Amino acid sequence: MNDKTATAKAHTNIALIKYWGKKDRELNLPTTSSLSLTLNEFYTITAVTEGKEDTLLINNMMQDPKRIHQFLDFLRQNVGDFPPLTVISRNMVPTSAGLASSASSFAALTAAVAKYNDWDLSEKELSRLARRGSGSATRSFFPGFAVWHEGTDDESSFAEALPATDLPIALVVCEIAGTVKKVSSSDGMMRAMTSPNYAAWVEESKQQFEEMQAAIAAKDLAKIGELAEKNALDMHALNLTATDRRFTYFNQMTQDILAKVKELRQAGFLAYATLDAGPNVKIITSQDQAETIQAKLKEAFPKLRLEIATPGPGFSYIKED
Ligand code: PMV
Repeated sequence: MNDKTATAKAHTNIALIKYWGKKDRELNLPTTSSLSLTLNEFYTITAVTEGKEDTLLINNMMQDPKRIHQFLDFLRQNVGDFPPLTVISRNMVPTSAGLASSASSFAALTAAVAKYNDWDLSEKELSRLARRGSGSATRSFFPGFAVWHEGTDDESSFAEALPATDLPIALVVCEIAGTVKKVSSSDGMMRAMTSPNYAAWVEESKQQFEEMQAAIAAKDLAKIGELAEKNALDMHALNLTATDRRFTYFNQMTQDILAKVKELRQAGFLAYATLDAGPNVKIITSQDQAETIQAKLKEAFPKLRLEIATPGPGFSYIKED
């Protein structure tokens, strides 16, 4: 057996304009273009080496390899064959708690497999391939702000970085639950698409996608926060109005934190909320207000775990010794 190992690191990202619906499930094409910020503090490092069968270890624990096995088979059939792999991941993202660990995981895995096989792929090609593992992974190769163009086919649905900016944005991440979410993002978005308001959300999202890029170029943090909060809360309203098994990711703590964010804003702070497929609230603010906001949240909710996140780098390869 070959003892070659390839290792890659990718950071997770938070969508400011969300991906929440698929127009093609087979190709994993989204109904809308989305826009994200890569986060410095949360990342995954993945090493791949030949094994007897595809296996997955996350933070030294054996996991069900079904999802990555399907993805590895997709790569074998579409890019080039390779032997069964042992995949060893170190995940610095609270797994499956709405902090999109699948984004950094599938981006790191795609890059590690490409390196293992000496595939000479561009960032755009890596991004397109990772899309088939997890939609949000499409955006996790790039530093700072990234856009995922919805596209119309396999070729045209990929992500790229927006021009670099020194915007002093920060997130205060409130980790409400570290438990596994009950409704997977794939299931959640299929149900949300049955909401009578879905088409209107898609239309508005197109507009917000353009406005968000303008707000980033203008370094208008308040506008960025305002647009992101509206886009996210309207996305969550689709879950509540789904005709197929309506649901919510919110719990009481989510509601209490959202109320606190509003209160902070009324008191003159720059604070806007966004949430993904889980109860955790991420507060969008500026780097100079992040610690004060963190302290205010801690004061109101002493048991809450809080972390500050800032813009992060693109993916990288890690040299083996
Ligand atoms: O990448 P997935 O399939 O887990 O979906 C992610 C969906 C959201 O995190 C809620 C939104 C997004 O654009 O990341």
